[in-house]
Amino acid sequence: RLDVVETFHGLFFPGHLHTQDSLQLALKFPFQDTDIIIVSYPKSGTTWMQEIVTLISSRGDPDVSQTVPNWARAPWLEHHYFTAVQEASPTKARVITTHLPHHLLGPTLQSSKAKVIYVSRNPKDVVVSFYHFHKMANFLPEAGSFSEFLNRFLDGKLHYGSWFDHIKGWTSQTATMNNLLHITYEEMSMDIKGAIKRVSSHLQSPLLEDEVNNCAKHCSFSRMKDNKMANYTLVTEDIMDHSKGTFMRKGKIGDWKNINIKKRIPTERIELKNTKL
Ligand code: PPS
Repeated sequence: RLDVVETFHGLFFPGHLHTQDSLQLALKFPFQDTDIIIVSYPKSGTTWMQEIVTLISSRGDPDVSQTVPNWARAPWLEHHYFTAVQEASPTKARVITTHLPHHLLGPTLQSSKAKVIYVSRNPKDVVVSFYHFHKMANFLPEAGSFSEFLNRFLDGKLHYGSWFDHIKGWTSQTATMNNLLHITYEEMSMDIKGAIKRVSSHLQSPLLEDEVNNCAKHCSFSRMKDNKMANYTLVTEDIMDHSKGTFMRKGKIGDWKNINIKKRIPTERIELKNTKL
């Protein structure tokens, strides 16, 4: 069975990708000040940001993003294959991805000047995207009905923990951590060139206008949907059942309106100031 659960600090993680050791190691990782860390709750635009950062690093040249799988060029810190991928990488893969919440990773990052990019997305679209992903990803539990799934999301019982804790934990750091950039999926969707410029300036890698245009072209939904190195079609059927869905599903803002939700998402449970829903 692929959907074995690894429980760590009260949170559930797919056992197919995580072990107690790999999670423990993540919390002790010696970050370097030159590292770039992409942090997100699942389905918030992680893969998109991996593509953007890769393209910024190559000044808009798509060679690396189209020849190296995203999990090798920006591996997940907490996955069991992280150390092996990093050691095999010529650049030592210092673009690192993580879904870990701030209360777990924050203490490790505290003394580091590594550049952190926190990507968030409207929770209604997150939960709908995650629901569809559960149907195709055999390493996640059964999706069940959408209403049940929504309750599990609201109660923080899904894998990777609570969206609410995740967003509160990381965004509460924006005022004090000046190496942290918070960017939203919606911002990327509405103004990709502006988003690329914000990220490149945060990474202190300013780009020429032409380079920004090339980055924007190669990280578009349609390009990424066709890019085997980003669309997860390289993953075998036993892990992701491609007959049940596509990883690059719709890539839209507001797709939650298309799901038949009997129970509306109670927005009052989202206590964050300045969170537009
Ligand atoms: S994961 O499994 O946590 O790594 O998933 P993640 O990459 O965070 O999120 C997947 C959703 O992001 C959409 N996506 C994009 N949208 C617009 N443009 C681009 N380029 C893009 N790349 C990925 C992807 O389609 C998933 O959203 P949904 O709503 O399911 O389509």
